[in-house]
Amino acid sequence: MLRKAMSKLTINSTLRMNSGYEIPMLGYGVYKTPANVCEDVVTKAFEAGYRHVDSAAGYRNEEPCGAAIKKSSIPRSQIFFTSKVPPMQLSYDSASAQVDASLKLSGLDYIDLMLLHAPYGGREARKGAWKALVEAQEAGKVRSIGVSNYGVAHLDEMEVYIKELEKERGGEGKGGKIDVGQWEVHPWMPRRDIAEWCKKRGVVVEAFCPIVRGKRMDDPALVPLIKKHRKTGAQILIRWSLQKGFVPLPKSETPSRIVENAGVYDFELDTEDMKALELDVYEPCAWDPTVAALED
Ligand SMILES: NC(=O)c1ccc[n+]([C@@H]2O[C@H](COP(=O)([O-])OP(=O)(O)OC[C@H]3O[C@@H](n4cnc5c(N)ncnc54)[C@H](OP(=O)(O)O)[C@@H]3O)[C@@H](O)[C@H]2O)c1
Repeated sequence: MLRKAMSKLTINSTLRMNSGYEIPMLGYGVYKTPANVCEDVVTKAFEAGYRHVDSAAGYRNEEPCGAAIKKSSIPRSQIFFTSKVPPMQLSYDSASAQVDASLKLSGLDYIDLMLLHAPYGGREARKGAWKALVEAQEAGKVRSIGVSNYGVAHLDEMEVYIKELEKERGGEGKGGKIDVGQWEVHPWMPRRDIAEWCKKRGVVVEAFCPIVRGKRMDDPALVPLIKKHRKTGAQILIRWSLQKGFVPLPKSETPSRIVENAGVYDFELDTEDMKALELDVYEPCAWDPTVAALED
């Protein structure tokens, strides 16, 4: 059954979010992509078949992302654009203002997904920023909303203030629903606790650093699969992520790698292969705010 579902994965595969909107499973990350090359590489990504761009206010490239989206002949409805509210000084005001700023900078009529980039700032800051996203969603400025780098404690806390917001804002649904969460996820950061939390609630898990920034290509867990499938390490890791039901967001500024990272639909990892990548380790290659205390 799983095998059958997996063989159906295509570059156009999507997942349905709690908002009712669809999210393309393969994303294209633009962290550290300089603004002056960003429009060009996003255009190349569209040519390679990606339909999902993951940016953030902090990446300082929402403007060229928006330019590439508007310039493209692909209908806006078929492209998915994400931005994020910066982690510092999280608050109701900063999140409301950021939604407007991201709309203005990107030049888009709506943002497909707005995330809170990290959980810093304390409970009231997180609750206020979340309320701002809920209002932006109701206003049609953003279609889906979520969080990034929240640990299980931050997620559990959200469930409490979502209930509070329901009461404060006049009833069921008024507290918002988490559509997506974004975390560093790959075989060396399996995030089983968070993935389980999300699965129970229909929250889509996005995987950042899905190819571990290119640093694990000669890892003993990966090499046999590279040889077996005659695919690159990046392709094996992206395929692993997709078969786990995640939304991987590989980043590349290199035209050949942009194409390579999308070439993951002509092979399949079998049960044994997936098992070989079930590692029980915690080895992040990026920051990990999930471990921050609730007071931080
Ligand atoms: N929410 C968060 O806190 C957070 C944090 C980090 C990342 N993200 C998101 O997730 C995206 C992906 O994460 P990431 O950019 O940190 O890491 P990544 O996608 O795992 O790796 C990107 C790095 O790997 C290189 N690369 C790309 N394709 C390759 C290939 N086929 N073979 C070997 N090396 C390859 C890239 O170099 P070139 O560009 O030179 O090709 C770049 O240096 C980001 O762009 C961003 O959108 C979010």
